[in-house]
Amino acid sequence: SIEAITLRSILDSRGNPTVEADIWVDGGFGRAAAPSGASTGSHEAIVLSPEEAIPYAYTTVIPALEGLDSHDQRTFDRILRECDGTGNFATIGANVAVALSLANAKAAASAFNMELFTYLGGVFAEEAPLPLGNVIGGGAHAPGATEIQEFLIIPTGASSTEEAVFTNALVHKEVKKLLKAKGITCGKGDEGAWAPQISDTDALDLIGTAIDTITDETGVTVAIGLDVAATELWDGERYVYRERKRSTEDQIAYIADLVDTFGLIYVEDPLHEEDFEGFSNLTEQISDNCLICGDDLFVTNPERIQKGIEMASASAVLIKPNQIGTLTDTFEAVHLAERYGLETVMSHRSGETTDTTIAHLAIAFGCIYLKCGIVGGERIAKLNELIRISENFA
Ligand code: PGA
Ligand code: ZN
Repeated sequence: SIEAITLRSILDSRGNPTVEADIWVDGGFGRAAAPSGASTGSHEAIVLSPEEAIPYAYTTVIPALEGLDSHDQRTFDRILRECDGTGNFATIGANVAVALSLANAKAAASAFNMELFTYLGGVFAEEAPLPLGNVIGGGAHAPGATEIQEFLIIPTGASSTEEAVFTNALVHKEVKKLLKAKGITCGKGDEGAWAPQISDTDALDLIGTAIDTITDETGVTVAIGLDVAATELWDGERYVYRERKRSTEDQIAYIADLVDTFGLIYVEDPLHEEDFEGFSNLTEQISDNCLICGDDLFVTNPERIQKGIEMASASAVLIKPNQIGTLTDTFEAVHLAERYGLETVMSHRSGETTDTTIAHLAIAFGCIYLKCGIVGGERIAKLNELIRISENFA
């Protein structure tokens, strides 16, 4: 049973404070930290300042959790919801909730002397997802760079996790080389993607060229994806790009054209977070080779995923545990998507710590991809964990 719980404020990758939880149980220990978003969906669970949320949790939440059996994750998470009472963690903070919920699962696994992915996924959880990482980006993660938030790569031809992770890193380096050759110097955005001031189609061309070089060298094929994060472009009537504005119809045609022209296999949030219908129209038009994934649309919320299933809005669901606040609800979101044939993609946030829990969740829950960047300490922590875990399946 749970013997002690500690919460503290630690640094995240943007230099902001975030919540870390430690949980001691009989014969085990678990630690987890909450990440945080920049282009957050408006239907996400509520994040509170650690400075206020941590003292509050010590007086109201932690006493209700001590003594529980850590192996009863559903009860643990139900009590988090009861202590909160709002449905979206506005009282105790989704950052406090998710850190506690994940730390509890890790403590429970540790008490069994098990790895988290095995504890949650069982003996048949033995397939590692492909790493999906952003190589160029802009939007809310690097204002002034590209208009589309994330240009992603997926090493579809890799034959091992190690090869997959290193292939993405090679493309990331090659992109820098190509930018330099064009006389473009730039820094990196919040998730480690290059942040050049170039057009979205130039970014796609450049990544295509980088991929060709790396595929020639390594023999590994690599495909391209996007996270449009279209809510950030939407002004209530149109999608506002620097050169022009696009109506919903134009936006759908634009994205469908990019999918065709660049052979994209993954597009996240091509339309704004309330447009279930626009998503549905695009999903209908796009070939089966390209996943249409909802992030801000679904916010890992089973009720919104249910609506998306009924309207055939997407073919994939982005899974961010901190959007919904508990491991149980994260599992329910994955389970619902899976039941209706939608793929799931486990994802980091733009503000991260070196916590590696999502690498374990991606395997335990059978996600097709792990979206967690390509470089940077807080990103490679997860990729390196994926490499270590995958040794168990070799
Ligand atoms: P966020 O962005 O973590 O800043 O919300 C990531 C995403 O949109 O996928
Ligand atoms: Zn997104």
